[in-house]
Amino acid sequence: MKISTTTLLVSALLMTGAAFAETEATTPEAIARQALMKSFGGAAKTLGGMASGEVAYDAAAAEAAKQVLVAGAATIEAKFTAKVEDAGSKAKPEIWTGWEAFLGKAKALGDAAGALDVASAESIGGGMGGVGGACKACHTDFRLAD
Ligand code: HEC
Repeated sequence: MKISTTTLLVSALLMTGAAFAETEATTPEAIARQALMKSFGGAAKTLGGMASGEVAYDAAAAEAAKQVLVAGAATIEAKFTAKVEDAGSKAKPEIWTGWEAFLGKAKALGDAAGALDVASAESIGGGMGGVGGACKACHTDFRLAD
């Protein structure tokens, strides 16, 4: 059950991509933060796929995906510091009025990703709930719904 829950969670996260965005971001700041998020989506897809067995387990690829999340989480603060208005952005204004809470969500992702044990597909499955939960927690508070 754990694995299918993880798969559902990761799929739900990935569905919120740019494919259906009516308006594309045009400012460099919004494009850069969306690119960071897309890299998270790719890493979560790799790890979730290994956990569910859809993607063959590969130790180096798993470690690389983990590092995309760990290193990327550490750049969330810098990528979001500038409050740039962009019609193609789904960033809520609450990010900048609730900056400390936002940074707390970024740290939670860094912690969950850092704790991810990528030694096997099973161990990845054990930690992906925490990673996916960290993505979702921030999106719930700080990203506009599609
Ligand atoms: C600290 C908050 C935060 C965390 C943690 C977070 N996100 Fe996001 N995410 C956002 C915000 C805000 C946006 C909207 C950015 C914009 O449109 O300017 C977003 C957008 C996205 C997008 C859409 C990008 C696009 O192309 O427009 C994807 C995909 C995404 N996030 C995946 C993830 C995944 C997967 C994780 C976890 C591994 C994650 N996010 C963790 C805040 C967060």
